[in-house]
Amino acid sequence: MAKGNIRSIRWSPSSLALVAVAAVALLHSTTTAAPTAATQSLYGLVERLLPKAYHSTFDFQIVSETAIPPSSPKNKYDVYRVSNVAAAADTADSNAAGHGGRRPTVLIEGTTLSALGVGLKFYLEQAAQVELTWSGNRFNELPAQPPRVPDLELDSGNVVTTGHVHGSFVPWRYYTNVVTFGYQFAFWDWNRWERELDWMVLNGVNQLPAMVGQEYVQREFFRSLGVKEADFDSFFSGPTYQPWQRMGNMQGSWTYELTGAGTAADELAYKNRWIDSQWALQQKILARLDGFNITSVLPAFQGFVPRALKNLYPQADIRNSSTWSGFPIEHTNVTYVEPTDPLFSKLSVDYIKLQDKLNNGHRSHHYLLDLYNELTPSCLTEACLKAISKTVSQTLQTANKDAVWVMQGWFLTGSAWNPARAKAYLEGIQEANGQSFVYDLASDSVPVWERFSGFYGSEFGWSVINNYGASQGLFGKLSEIQVLPYQAFAKYPNTLRGMGVTAEGLNNNEFIYELTLTFPWANPDQPALNVPKRLEQFIQRRYGPSRATPQVQQAWKLLSETVWDCPSVLESGLAKETGSKSYIEKPPALDMANTGWLGTNIWYNKTTVVHAWDLLVKSGIAERNAPHGRPLPTSYIFDLVDTTREILLSTVFPSVHGSLIAAYNRQDIAQIRAAGRQLLEVANDADRLLSSHSLFSFGAAVKEARDSSNLPLPTGATTPASFNRNGFRQFLESNARNLVTWWGPESAGLADYGSKQWGGLISSYYVPRWKLFIAQLELAAQEKRPFDPVAYSALVLKHETAWQAQKWGDRSGESWASNGSASIDVVRQLWVKYAALAAKIAAAED
Ligand SMILES: *[C@@H]1O[C@H](CO)[C@@H](O)[C@H](O)[C@H]1NC(C)=O
Ligand SMILES: *[C@@H]1O[C@H](CO)[C@@H](O)[C@H](O)[C@H]1NC(C)=O
Ligand SMILES: *[C@@H]1O[C@H](CO)[C@@H](O)[C@H](O)[C@H]1NC(C)=O
Ligand SMILES: *[C@@H]1O[C@H](CO)[C@@H](O)[C@H](O)[C@H]1NC(C)=O
Ligand SMILES: *[C@@H]1O[C@H](CO)[C@@H](O)[C@H](O)[C@H]1NC(C)=O
Repeated sequence: MAKGNIRSIRWSPSSLALVAVAAVALLHSTTTAAPTAATQSLYGLVERLLPKAYHSTFDFQIVSETAIPPSSPKNKYDVYRVSNVAAAADTADSNAAGHGGRRPTVLIEGTTLSALGVGLKFYLEQAAQVELTWSGNRFNELPAQPPRVPDLELDSGNVVTTGHVHGSFVPWRYYTNVVTFGYQFAFWDWNRWERELDWMVLNGVNQLPAMVGQEYVQREFFRSLGVKEADFDSFFSGPTYQPWQRMGNMQGSWTYELTGAGTAADELAYKNRWIDSQWALQQKILARLDGFNITSVLPAFQGFVPRALKNLYPQADIRNSSTWSGFPIEHTNVTYVEPTDPLFSKLSVDYIKLQDKLNNGHRSHHYLLDLYNELTPSCLTEACLKAISKTVSQTLQTANKDAVWVMQGWFLTGSAWNPARAKAYLEGIQEANGQSFVYDLASDSVPVWERFSGFYGSEFGWSVINNYGASQGLFGKLSEIQVLPYQAFAKYPNTLRGMGVTAEGLNNNEFIYELTLTFPWANPDQPALNVPKRLEQFIQRRYGPSRATPQVQQAWKLLSETVWDCPSVLESGLAKETGSKSYIEKPPALDMANTGWLGTNIWYNKTTVVHAWDLLVKSGIAERNAPHGRPLPTSYIFDLVDTTREILLSTVFPSVHGSLIAAYNRQDIAQIRAAGRQLLEVANDADRLLSSHSLFSFGAAVKEARDSSNLPLPTGATTPASFNRNGFRQFLESNARNLVTWWGPESAGLADYGSKQWGGLISSYYVPRWKLFIAQLELAAQEKRPFDPVAYSALVLKHETAWQAQKWGDRSGESWASNGSASIDVVRQLWVKYAALAAKIAAAED
């Protein structure tokens, strides 16, 4: 049959029948026995996520590499084929009972488990038009009868009829950023981890830094060396800060100093208990990674040690590292063992041995080791840097002859590094015959691979970070990210071996991240991604085909051409390293147009964005009010809240701030008051909106933190009667509060770096700051003098300090969590209230 004939009839029932026949003809034997142990984990995933009717739909088969010819020679890793199984009557095979005893209708073959996972996603997307995302899924809307695999045209332009074959051109797809373990995962329980691991499988992730609970191994290890309990307190950090402590940027915790509650000893007890519970969690994560065949990247001995280790090894080369981000000496200048000292090798090998012993049979050859993340090496000659990496690589190989040294390329952004030094450092590993893999952490905004010649022969991965500090604004670089990885691969085809999503936080810009994880499955020589079409399909899956109306598609098309299409270099010449912070979450000031990581950069046509919001909200309201109206999918509600947030905080709020400052400049007291009132009204409206949805709610975040006090402990671990559970919960809450505000022991260098546009945070933290600011402006006008930043700072510091110690729920209006049921009503009210104003502001400012 000629392809041309099929093209015209695709998607019709008769064409599906044809496909089925063709599939039977092609697929030699589709016999399935009971699922093998290897694929058991995928059946588990199906049962967890999908309705019962789908539990026996799939026949997962691991096949040899020769069984499925890849669609292009370069797409040779993790190849899968998705096809229909013939109707039962068509075969005489009576052994063909699938999982659950019923005959499967969809055959998913793959050369690896990861391939099968992506094959399943392909089916869910293309046949069933659903998808698992952070903001929800429409699995409850799946057809009662599992649909057949459609005959359809993909990006190749060819109509596929006999099984859809895809493969990845890189062997590794990795996920997360080490700091995501602080910003996002810190308080997760097993249920939440389980869902994320399922998401990873469906999105083809086959490598994951497995960072949870490593302090348990460290503690055992340092105890075995003779470090005393009292010496741990100044070393281990609280839950949300562990990533930076692991990298030697900072150490210790400061909750009791901040809140005035308890003592250092209490705090150590909390941290110890926390470490125990994380270890129990890690065992579950590792077991599931094994089940899914996701390669874990395990911690190695990083060299950073409690200060007291120097006393135990007075002869060893133990030093203090550099200061990080303006932290006070006691919480930074972390003590470390110089890697060229024999003690480093000994401790590394012993550490990995202990980790293997504690890890209950879980094994990996991949080790994460960042020696200089945002730190300055003790020596900077090429010979010395090479000696360091050579020794470390040899050490890892002594511990595990197949060791792969995984590191984040971000360290090379430090001012101490130049190409010659970087080359020497990375070549030292090759001289030791070692393997390395560098995550180019932010290829979308700071492509380190480019500046450092693809890491001088080391294997590396290309990744999209998109949201430093886990920021939430609608942001992306769609035009750039869809071509850059292929350019990188064309330049380094032998060493670019991975692609990843290195988001620092979830629950934002889902399309950007989902899209990034599809890049490896395109033909790198002619990717032909057709991103506009992918976005349309994404919206269909997200809202359901019947709700993805032309208006809705138009809204997303406009957004993809504006908020998601930020160029790296603006006309102003400004390089856009980060997303854009909204004014509300930054320290109030006369001039809010900061640059750098607190920057606000609105690079897009606001009229277009306001128009897109208008289309989306109208569609959402119409859909909700339709006579046949079923509840809106949670992702639809999420998007309504998210776009309304963007309009209120990125268009309206800055404009009202402009009026406020203009009134101040004119010393117009009445107008200062009026604009001030309006600014607070916008803020409170945003707060009400965001409080209605748990993914935008500070109360929900605090609840997650406090609830994590109940995480199970490892077998045998007990809680002493004297343990202060309320103190523990407050310690957890304080960690959550501090990270999104001061980001440290005091209002220091990173304040507001982790800020959030969250309901509850706006009302309790940001609004009081703005109130104080407005009052100071008014006072200045009354006294006919300039605004006094010192007086303002003193007042705001008092407010911020008190806030750190508060307990959520103690004040009126502090609610814990919401299920989004009220969101649409709030969106509608705010749309009625602000649509005209937003359009007017946009027109005036574009
Ligand atoms: C498991 O993962 C490794 C590493 O990606 C791969 O080489 C192997 O083929 C995989 N096996 C299965 C059954 O997925
Ligand atoms: C590191 O800094 C601490 C705190 O200032 C100091 O007490 C200690 O002696 C220093 N250690 C080394 C090895 O320099
Ligand atoms: C801390 O690091 C800075 C360099 O960043 C250094 O000048 C200082 O001496 C260090 N202090 C200690 C106590 O190690
Ligand atoms: C912004 O978009 C609107 C609506 O599409 C258009 O009329 C206007 O010319 C655009 N402004 C600029 C500066 O491009
Ligand atoms: C959401 O919460 C509201 C009020 O808190 C409740 O009435 C409603 O039943 C909840 N909806 C769902 C789907 O849980």
